[in-house]
This record gives sequence, C-alpha cells and structure tokens, in this order.
Amino acid sequence: MVDNNKSVDTYHVRRLLAAQRAQEAAAVRAQTGRFRQRYHFMAPSGWINDPNGLIYWQGRYHLFYQHNPFKPEWGTVHWGHASSRDMVHWRHEPIALAPSESYDLDEKGEEGGCFSGSAVDNNGVLALIYTGAVHAEEKTIQTQCLAESRDGVYFEKHRANPVIACPPETGSPDFRDPKVWRHGDYWYLVAGTCKDGRGKMVLYRSPDLLTWEYVNVLAENSGRGGGEAGDMWECPDFFPLGDKHILIFSPMGVERRKAVYLSGDMDYGTGVFTYTDWGEIDRGFHYYAPQSFDCPDGRRVIIGWASDWSNAYGPMQEEGWCGYFALPRSVEPAIETSVETSFIEGKLRFVPIAELQSLRESPARYDAFLLSEDERVPLQAGDGVSCELLLRISLSKTTAQKCILDFRAGGGEYTRVELDFSGAELSLDCGHADAFHSSGVRRCPLALAEKTEITLHVFLDTCSVELFFNDYQTAMTATLFPRPENVSIFIEAKGGTVAIAGIETYGLSSIGPVPKPHGM
Ligand code: FRU
Repeated sequence: MVDNNKSVDTYHVRRLLAAQRAQEAAAVRAQTGRFRQRYHFMAPSGWINDPNGLIYWQGRYHLFYQHNPFKPEWGTVHWGHASSRDMVHWRHEPIALAPSESYDLDEKGEEGGCFSGSAVDNNGVLALIYTGAVHAEEKTIQTQCLAESRDGVYFEKHRANPVIACPPETGSPDFRDPKVWRHGDYWYLVAGTCKDGRGKMVLYRSPDLLTWEYVNVLAENSGRGGGEAGDMWECPDFFPLGDKHILIFSPMGVERRKAVYLSGDMDYGTGVFTYTDWGEIDRGFHYYAPQSFDCPDGRRVIIGWASDWSNAYGPMQEEGWCGYFALPRSVEPAIETSVETSFIEGKLRFVPIAELQSLRESPARYDAFLLSEDERVPLQAGDGVSCELLLRISLSKTTAQKCILDFRAGGGEYTRVELDFSGAELSLDCGHADAFHSSGVRRCPLALAEKTEITLHVFLDTCSVELFFNDYQTAMTATLFPRPENVSIFIEAKGGTVAIAGIETYGLSSIGPVPKPHGM
C-alpha cells in the first residue's frame, strides 16, 4: 500500500523529472514531423513500443506505454502515460515510471528499464505490475515489480520489490510482461517465459500483490505447430469472453505471426488453460503486443503497437519520434454462420470502436453502381490522407476476377489492396507505397462462400493503413510513408464488372497538433 508518510523515492522522482524534461524538449520538433499521425495515439516525442497497464480507473481510461523519452530508439525503458474519456482523444500525463532502482536501472543505462506489465485497481489504489529488467555480468535479470498511486498520476515503487525475484523452474531468465487480474479471493498473474526452445506462460497467485505463489504453466508451445508456436512468448493478456477465456500473446521466433489469440477453457483448480481455437489478431505487417481494456460497459477493447522489432522504422526516427498505436478494437465473438469458414482462423472479430465515429467529418456517399472492366474511378474520402472508407460489394452481380483499390496514390506511388474473387483472397501490397524500404505483400483468405455482399473497412492516417474484412474477423495493419502529396484513391475492376453496393467515406479529424505540410 502507498504510505503517504514514507519518505518519497527521491531518486525515482529525479529520474522522472529528467525524463519529462527530455520528452517535452523533444516534442517541439517531433510534433512538426511530416509523418506524425493525426488520430492515432503517439507519445509526445521519443520512442514508443508496447501498450501497458490498460485500465478504466476512476472515470478515465488509462494507457501506459513502453517509452524512451531521450531518443527515438528503444532503450532506457520508462512507462509513458496518457488518459482519456473515450479511448480516442488522449491527454498526456506525466511519465509514470523511470528506471531508478537496482532491479530496473541497468548498469549500462540503456538496455534495461521498466518493461511491460499491467494495472489493477487494488481498493482504490492504482497498482502497476511491471518487469524490472537489468543486464549484469552478461546476464539478463528480469523480475516482477509493483508501483502504486492514489491519484493515478504519481507512482511510487514498492519497497518490497521485486515481488517475484526469480523465474520458476519451468521458465528461464526471459521472464516478463506480467498481466494481473482478480479471480475469487486471489490476484492472478501470468508472465511470458520459455524453456528448451518453447514459449510458455506461467501462472502465479497472490492474496495481496506482494507475496506470490507459483501455480502452474498456464499454456505452452506443445510443438504441434498450431496457434501455440514460438520459442519465447511475450506480452500476455488473459480475459474471459462469453463462456470462453482468451489468451493473447506475441510469439518470438515465428516468421510472420506477431499477435496471436487462443480461445479455450480455464481451470483455476489446476491453473491450466486448454485452447480449442486460435487465430491472428492482425495479419498485416505491423502489429505487436496488444493489451486490453475491460470497459465499464462490458466491452473488451484491445490496443496494439503498430510496429514490430524489424527495425524498419522509416523516417519517423529522423523526426524525433518513433511508433504509434493501432486503433482501439472491440473484441467480440465472430458472427456464427452456417458456412464452414475454418480457413479463416479463429472465432473472434476485432471491430474499430464506435467512439471513433466522433472523428468523422466531410462525409461522402456513393450509391450502387457498376464498375466496368478496366474502369478506374477516383474516390473522394476527406483529404485522402486522414480518412475512412466503407466499401460494400454485391457478389451476386459481380463478374470481375478482381477489384483493385489504390490508396495514397500519386507520382507513381500507391498502396494497393486487391480483392481477388476468383482466388478468394485479399492482398495488401506495399511494394510501391513510398520512397523508403516499405515492401512486401500480405495475403489472406477472403470469405466469399454463400455471401451476397462483402464489406471492406479502411482507415488511413499519415503513415498507416488499417483494413478490416471477413466480417471483422481479419484485420491488417501496415505502417508506410507515402509522400504527403499522394492523396488520390482509385477503384478499378479487372476481368469483368464489379457491382458496388455502396461506398461511404469520411475525413477524420486530428486529435493533436497538426503537422505542417511538407516544405513549410
Ligand atoms: C515486447 C517486449 C516485451 C518487453 C518490452 C521491452 O515488445 O520485448 O517483452 O517487456 O518489449 O520494451
């Protein structure tokens, strides 16, 4: 518990002040960056990776994040903090955690810090449970730590830290990213780890957040090659949804899969979670380490880092910032159909939250029309940079092999989405998107069987595209850097006619400082 009479942790406070000053000084430049997003969450400046500690607490949504306030590169990991009433418009709060103690201040200063974790409300105290990470004598030491706040702004590290000082025998020194929740009389904690080349999640329980008892391996890579692949599991989230439990994590050592969910049954008696279904949360290029809000209205909303560890950070770093979060998505059971759709993995859908509609401006509507073979028609959606588009295609009247959509087109560049009706596949091609090293094509099955109409929902921002299709069972996110003057959108039919059932578009307003147009 926070003891207000206890002398404050002055070194932590000094480190927080230095971090805050650095973040604010760098924000002046970062916020004029020409690739800054307009309505996606970003830190004021510096580096950002995983979302942390997502919690609805005392009337506001609190979002913490892995943050280096000193450089737009990973390192010296702090917890940045923002809060919001609607998960769309964010207020930046003072940095919450800075590396300051023997268990989270790395001897080299750069490689350790306050790694990922979660937040709970402990009788009115906002408790953050995070991984303290240090490197000493060439070894990684990752322990689980507690910090508390009564006002939701200033956090004090607990003097009992680390509250879990070493990994269990079933794990290894890679032991991180605690997700804590309440069930019955106990707090439960799941953390990512690995052993003998297999990723796993280990489960603990505690009566008071301070004394933790090891329970079991919650789930692990069995080597069967299903949803549970990976040689290390990071960033767990675990929650009930309907009559199932959902385990979310980011597997390491898997070429393409970055954020996976397993859906199954939890046995609190044994501490074992058995999954029956699995799927990918996002099948695009850039999506990692999502965490969820348990919303007061019963929704479960996830937010992911729209990037990964590929080091392809394009020009963001040159502008003094790096990274942003993908749109908040409500996690829901997939719509039941009579058609076998098992080729679309999983049984969940990820729907951009309704609150995002408050950003909509300058709506445009296209009524049903036929797009003839090889016809290429321009579409208007806001300014073409920060906008949303909902496309409905009537399959019964479509004869085309393909429908092509080009976004952010101009000067020979474009980001291409291809709906391939003959191959029942959707692809996102970034090979011509920009002058940086964006490349590659991502392909996903497109559910067409027994459907009369399909919908594609698209969100564009300065440096991102997010696609939703297959009734929101499939999402794809990509970070791209088209020139600001590439603002055109085209739709085209190939090999026959595409029957457009309707198109709705919107411009989307900015939630923060608007970057100056290129060259000004
Ligand atoms: C995942 C991750 C976490 C770790 C954090 C460090 O992106 O590697 O496992 O806690 O980043 O910033």
